[in-house]
Amino acid sequence: MDLLEMLARYAASGACPMHMPGHKRRALGGGLPWQMDITEIDGFDNLHDAHGVLKESMDRAARLYGSDRAFFLVNGSTCGILAGICAAARPGDTVLLPRGCHQAVYHGLELRGLVPVYLPVPVDEAFGVCGSVRPQTVAAALAAHPEARLLILTSPTYEGVISDLGSIVALAHGAGVPVLVDEAHGAHLGLSPCFPGGAVKAGADIVIQSLHKTLPSLTQTALAHWNRGLTDDGELARQLSVFETSSPSYLLMGSMDRCVRLMEQRGAELLADYAAALESFDRLTAGLRHLRLLCRGRDWKSAHPEIFNFDPGKLVISTRGTGLTGPGLMKLLRREAGIELEMALGEYALAMTSLCDTPQTLGRLAEALRTVDERLPPRSEKSCPAAPPLPPVRLRMDEARGLPGMLLQAEKAVGRVSGELVWAYPPGVPLLAPGEEVTAPLLAALREMTGHGVALHAERGNPPKTLWVVKNSGT
Ligand SMILES: Cc1ncc(COP(=O)(O)O)c(C=O)c1O
Repeated sequence: MDLLEMLARYAASGACPMHMPGHKRRALGGGLPWQMDITEIDGFDNLHDAHGVLKESMDRAARLYGSDRAFFLVNGSTCGILAGICAAARPGDTVLLPRGCHQAVYHGLELRGLVPVYLPVPVDEAFGVCGSVRPQTVAAALAAHPEARLLILTSPTYEGVISDLGSIVALAHGAGVPVLVDEAHGAHLGLSPCFPGGAVKAGADIVIQSLHKTLPSLTQTALAHWNRGLTDDGELARQLSVFETSSPSYLLMGSMDRCVRLMEQRGAELLADYAAALESFDRLTAGLRHLRLLCRGRDWKSAHPEIFNFDPGKLVISTRGTGLTGPGLMKLLRREAGIELEMALGEYALAMTSLCDTPQTLGRLAEALRTVDERLPPRSEKSCPAAPPLPPVRLRMDEARGLPGMLLQAEKAVGRVSGELVWAYPPGVPLLAPGEEVTAPLLAALREMTGHGVALHAERGNPPKTLWVVKNSGT
C-alpha cells in the first residue's frame, strides 16, 4: 500500500482527530483533500526522524536514483539548496560556482557567510543562453583557489543546458572538494537510456532535484540526495530541520511516494514514450523557417560548442531576427492557440515538457509554432549585448546585507556598494550581487541590455533607473 492509499484508508477509519491540523479533516468546502491531510500520528512516521513508512519511501527514492541516502523535501529545491550549502561549507569558506545560479544558492552563500569565486561560463551566442561549465574552467579555479571548500553547479539549467558532471566531479574530488549540484530541473535524468546522465550517477556529493518540475508530483515536492564521501549526512539532515517546516504535508509526501513508485515500476516505459513524443514533435517542427529550436530539428547540437549536453525535454524557441520577441511569441500562443509557455525573455521563449505530455499536446504546440512561423517576416540578424565584466567585490554578501541600505537613482549609485541582487534575463546571470561595487560600465551595460529587450530584475530597486545600495558606501 502506498502512502496516499494509507491516508485514504485512515480517512475512512472513523478515527477522531484530537490533534493538528485545525480543520480536523472535515470538508470546509469542496476542492481540497481535507480528509487525507494529517499530521505525524501513530503509524505515519516523522519526516525529521524517519524510521517507518517515510523512511521506506525515502530509501526507495535513493535506490531509484542510486544515491546513498535521499530526503523528501516539502519546501521545494529551495530548502534543499539552503540546507545543502550550510551542511557542506563552514562560515567564511570559499565556494566555487558559476554566476548563473538560482537565487536560492545566493541566499545560501549569504546565510553561511561564504566567499564566492565565480566560474566564467560561456554564453551560447546563437540563442543567448548560458552554456555548460567547462571542466578546464573548474580545474583552473581549483588550482587558483586551493582554499576552496565547495563547488556548486546548476545542471541542467532552466533552459536545459547540462555540464560534463562526470569529469567535473572527478576533478573536484581529486582536490578533496565536495560538489553540490542544483539539479532542480533534472529529476527525470538518469532513470532511462532515453534521458541519460544525472548528477547522482556522476558521483556528486549532494544533489537537489525538484520532483514537481519535470516529473508527476505536486508543486513544492523535491528530493535531496546524499552520496557518501566528503560530506556528512547527519549534518545535512540537521540543516534540513532548520530550513524545512516541522509540519510537513502528508499530501505532498504522498505525492512524492507515488511519483517515486511510478518511476520505479513504469519509468522506463513512460520515459521511452516521452522520448518518442518529443521525436515526433521534432519531425513536425523540422520545417520551421524563422523560429529556431535549440539543439533540435535543423539546429544541430554540434552548432553549439558551448553546450556539452542538452535536456531534450526543454524546448527553447528562439525568435531572434524575426521581429517578434520571446514574450510576444508567448502572448501569441496564449491568445491564438490556448497554449501557456513556462517563460519568455528577450529573444526566446521556453516550453517545458514532461512524461505527462503526449503526441497530442506536443503536436498542438508544433502546429501552433508552424502557424506563427508562416506569418513571420524574413529574418534580420541583431544580437544581444554581452554581459559586462564582474564588478569589484567590496564587502561579503552577508556583510552588505547586514548594513542599512537606501534606494538611489542609478547614476548616483556609481561607486557605492550594492545591497541587492540584480539579474538579467536572458541569460539569467546576476550582474550585481550584494557587496559588489556599482560601476559606470555596469550601469551602461544595464541600460544597453534594457534597450535590447532584456528584462532586468532586482529585489528592491528598479534597474536601470534605481538601485538599492549600502548607506555611506560612497567612494
Ligand atoms: C535552477 C533552479 N534551482 C532551484 C530552483 C528552486 O526550486 P523550487 O521552486 O523547487 O524551490 C529553481 C526554481 O525555479 C530553479 O530554476
